[in-house]
Amino acid sequence: MPNIVVVGTQWGDEGKGRIVDLIAERVEIVARYQGGGNAGHTIVLDGRTVILHHIPSGILREDTLSVIGNGVVVDPKVLTEEIRGLREGGFRIDSDNFRLSERAHVVMPYHREIDLGREEMRGESKIGTTGRGIGPVYEDKVARRGIKFSDLLSPEVFSKRLLQVLEDRNLYLTRVLGRDEIPFDRVCDEYLEYGRQLKPFICDTTTLLNMGVGEGKSILFEGAQGTLLDIDFGTYPYVTSSSAGAAGACVGTGVSPSKIDVVMGVAKAYITRVGGGPFPTEVEGEPGEKLRTQGGEFGATTGRPRRCGWFDAVALRYSVMINGISGLALTKMDVLSGFDTLKICTSYKYKGEHIESFPSSQEVLWSCEPVYEEFPGWEEDISGVRDMGDLPPEARRYLDAIEELTGVTIWIVSLGPSRDEVILIKDPLG
Ligand code: IMP
Repeated sequence: MPNIVVVGTQWGDEGKGRIVDLIAERVEIVARYQGGGNAGHTIVLDGRTVILHHIPSGILREDTLSVIGNGVVVDPKVLTEEIRGLREGGFRIDSDNFRLSERAHVVMPYHREIDLGREEMRGESKIGTTGRGIGPVYEDKVARRGIKFSDLLSPEVFSKRLLQVLEDRNLYLTRVLGRDEIPFDRVCDEYLEYGRQLKPFICDTTTLLNMGVGEGKSILFEGAQGTLLDIDFGTYPYVTSSSAGAAGACVGTGVSPSKIDVVMGVAKAYITRVGGGPFPTEVEGEPGEKLRTQGGEFGATTGRPRRCGWFDAVALRYSVMINGISGLALTKMDVLSGFDTLKICTSYKYKGEHIESFPSSQEVLWSCEPVYEEFPGWEEDISGVRDMGDLPPEARRYLDAIEELTGVTIWIVSLGPSRDEVILIKDPLG
C-alpha cells in the first residue's frame, strides 16, 4: 500500500476529515503533520457527530494507529478533553492506537492570551484567527523559546524553562498588550499534570513512523487547514502559521519526501473561507446565503459563519501545482442541488488584463474580478447516488468542467457526511 498525503486545496474546511476517515481503514497509520487546535474535523458516524481538533480522524477506525507529528502544536488541555470525549463516546484510545510526538510544541495559556490581545489591537485589519494561540506558539518555536512535550515530562526541565519564558512573555502581555500577567505556580502545576496524563502517548514518533515505513506499513499524512492558508504559499498575511501544503507532511513528521507515493487534494464543490483576507469568488447576497445554509457552513472550532463563494479554478490550479496533486476528492457536491445556475471562475481580470495563475500580490487579489463560466444546475437530491452514471447530466457536466479547468482527475465525489455517501471513481490507494 502506498504512503499518501491528504491535503486541503482551498482555505480549509474542505472535508479532509471525512475523506481521511474513508481511507483510514485501509492504511496502518494516520499521521497529522501541522496546525493545532485551530482545526476542527466534523465527522458523522452512526448518526453521532464527533469533532476532532488535534487527534487524527484515523482514531475512529479501531485498528489504525493515529499519530500527532512534531509539526503539530498541541494544547494539552484541549487534547485531554478530546481524549475524554472520545472515550465517553465509546471509542478506544490508548498507547497502542494513539501517539504524540515528544518534539511537538505545547500551546501555553500565554499563547492564547497573546493571540486574542493581538487581534484586539489589530482592530479593522484583524486576521480573524481562531484565537487558539496558533500564531504565537509557532512564533516561539522559531524564536527558540518554545516548550516541547519532552520538556513537560521533566518537572526540573519544565519549571526552569517556564520561568525563563514566562518572564519574557508576561512583559509582552502586560506592557504591550495591556493584559493580565500569567501566574507561574498555577501554570507550572497544571501543565506538569497534563504531562503526567499524556505520558503514555508521548514518544519519538519520527522513529516510530520511519520504522513503520521500513516494515512496509502504509501511512496517510493528514493535513489541516488548506493550501491557501499555508504560511509560504497562502494569501499572506491572512494565513495560518504553518506549512499546510503537502510539503509540510515531511517537515511535520520527519518522513522523507522519497517515501511519499500519492498526494490527494480535497476540494469543496464550491469554496469557503473563515476569517479575513481576499476572496475573489466570494458571493454576497442570496446565492452565498443559500450555499451557507444548504452546506451548514459554520466553523467547527469557532462556530463562525463561513464566507461562501463559487468554485475557483484559478486557485485550484495553483494548489495542484504547489502540492503535486495526483487526484482530487470533491466534497459537498450534494449542496449544489437546487441552483438554477452554477458558476466556476476560470481566470481573474485585473486592470483590463486576464490573469490565469494565482497572484501572490495582495493588492491584485483584493481588487481582481473573477471571470466566470456558467453551468446549468439541477434540482434532484443527489445524496443517494453511488454511481457516476446516475448523476443528473448537469452534475456530470459540472464535474467534467472542473477536471478540464484544473487539469486534475476527480477520484472521489462526496455527497453527504456519512461514510457511505460517496462515489468512488478511482481508489487513491491503487
Ligand atoms: P489561526 O490559524 O488561528 O492563526 O488563524 C489564521 C487564519 O486561518 C484565520 O483566517 C482562520 O480563520 C484560518 N483558519 C485556521 N484554522 C482553520 C481551519 O481549520 N479551517 C479554516 N480556516 C482556518
